[in-house]
Amino acid sequence: MNILILGGGGREHALAWAVKQNPKCDRLIVAPGNAGISEIAECADIDINNGGQIVVFCEENSVDFVIVGPEAPLDAGVADRLRAAGVLTFGPSAAAARLESSKSFTKEICDACGAPTAAWARFDTADAAKDYIRAQGAPIVVKADGLAAGKGVVVAMDEAQALSAVDEMFAGAFGDAGAQVVIEEFMEGEEASFFVLCDGQDVLPIGTAQDHKRVGEGDTGPNTGGMGAYSPAPVMSEAVTRRALDEIIRPTIAEMARRGTPYQGVLYAGFMIRGGQPRLVEYNVRFGDPECQVLMMRLGAQALDLLQACARGRLDEARVNWADDHALTVVMAARGYPGAYEKGTAIGGLEALPEDSAHMVFHAGTAKSGGKTVASGGRVLNVTARGDTLAEARERAYAMVDRIDWPEGFCRRDIGWRTGTGDETSRAALKSGNPVR
Ligand code: AMP
Ligand code: GLY
Repeated sequence: MNILILGGGGREHALAWAVKQNPKCDRLIVAPGNAGISEIAECADIDINNGGQIVVFCEENSVDFVIVGPEAPLDAGVADRLRAAGVLTFGPSAAAARLESSKSFTKEICDACGAPTAAWARFDTADAAKDYIRAQGAPIVVKADGLAAGKGVVVAMDEAQALSAVDEMFAGAFGDAGAQVVIEEFMEGEEASFFVLCDGQDVLPIGTAQDHKRVGEGDTGPNTGGMGAYSPAPVMSEAVTRRALDEIIRPTIAEMARRGTPYQGVLYAGFMIRGGQPRLVEYNVRFGDPECQVLMMRLGAQALDLLQACARGRLDEARVNWADDHALTVVMAARGYPGAYEKGTAIGGLEALPEDSAHMVFHAGTAKSGGKTVASGGRVLNVTARGDTLAEARERAYAMVDRIDWPEGFCRRDIGWRTGTGDETSRAALKSGNPVR
């Protein structure tokens, strides 16, 4: 079978790595891919947000299955175009992708199906939003309604911060995404992510994870796209997982189907958990990055069978073969990230590292230049390992980090150190007083 993966980050490298191990995969193409991906797959230079161009590419290359990595093509309706052209596709329709592209849409779905989440209100003028904030008091959370590349959320610890966030959003800090603003109750608890495949009707859990969003050790400093992650997440106990499925995920999927916009693809739910009760923070309609890297490390080749069963509407027949294992990924970023950083610096030592079912360096932002691997983005490498325990996975990952020769790069040394101690994220946010995004 010929498979096309859309995207070019660490998430897509991990997907490609898992898919490639499955004997059903004959030809693997990733668009646009990156330097690491080019070692295991063909890379194609096509516009991944242009559904028409991708349909033509699939016809010309006899592509049997498309896996959509990032949210932008989903929001642009690429999965709809492919399915209309008869191409088997993993990823939700644009209508179902609103679970990520509109925060107020997700809140309406939660209200309609009774899923526990923060109390909320939506505003289209600054004055009304400010009156509401003054009436509610701080801490309080201000969000741009639309897609804001993960930057449209301000967790305001005092009223002044919330009021200025409203001004910034209505002044166009996030473009059209901020034309409407959602204001939410501040939830306390421990955060975890839960990944489920949905085929419109059935739901199949494929793993839990926790990430580290702040750039600095001890969860300090500015927010990033994620500096590391591990799976499973200890806070997602069996009881919490069951409640998450029964009270939040299944009701959401049923409500989407009822509205005539069934959800097909991976649903990435972010929860705030306190006292054993999960409440929804947000949905994403794609795999997390770098969470996908730890999920793929654990699932391996079966990932292709699961994604295909999902795309075919056959999840009722699919089973996950779980190993009692742990995976952890450390993000290596260019010095300066998430602020300004240098591009084009050379990375050495990668060839000598092990590449097997317990060790893998996924490339997030790399390119080839004069035969060398160079950094081409902010988050550059995802050094990923698997082990029988989280401690073993962590030791393996950092042992690889220590062998990488990249003076212009850095990473957090504390990924996976603070597992299951409770309420870390909100406590860190409270202490620093910084917006979480
Ligand atoms: P989001 O983009 O919605 O995931 O928000 C980014 C981060 O902001 C989340 O991962 C949480 O850490 C934090 N956050 C969002 N909404 C809330 C909320 N209602 N209460 C507390 N923290 C929140
Ligand atoms: N790591 C967070 C995300 O993918 O949104």
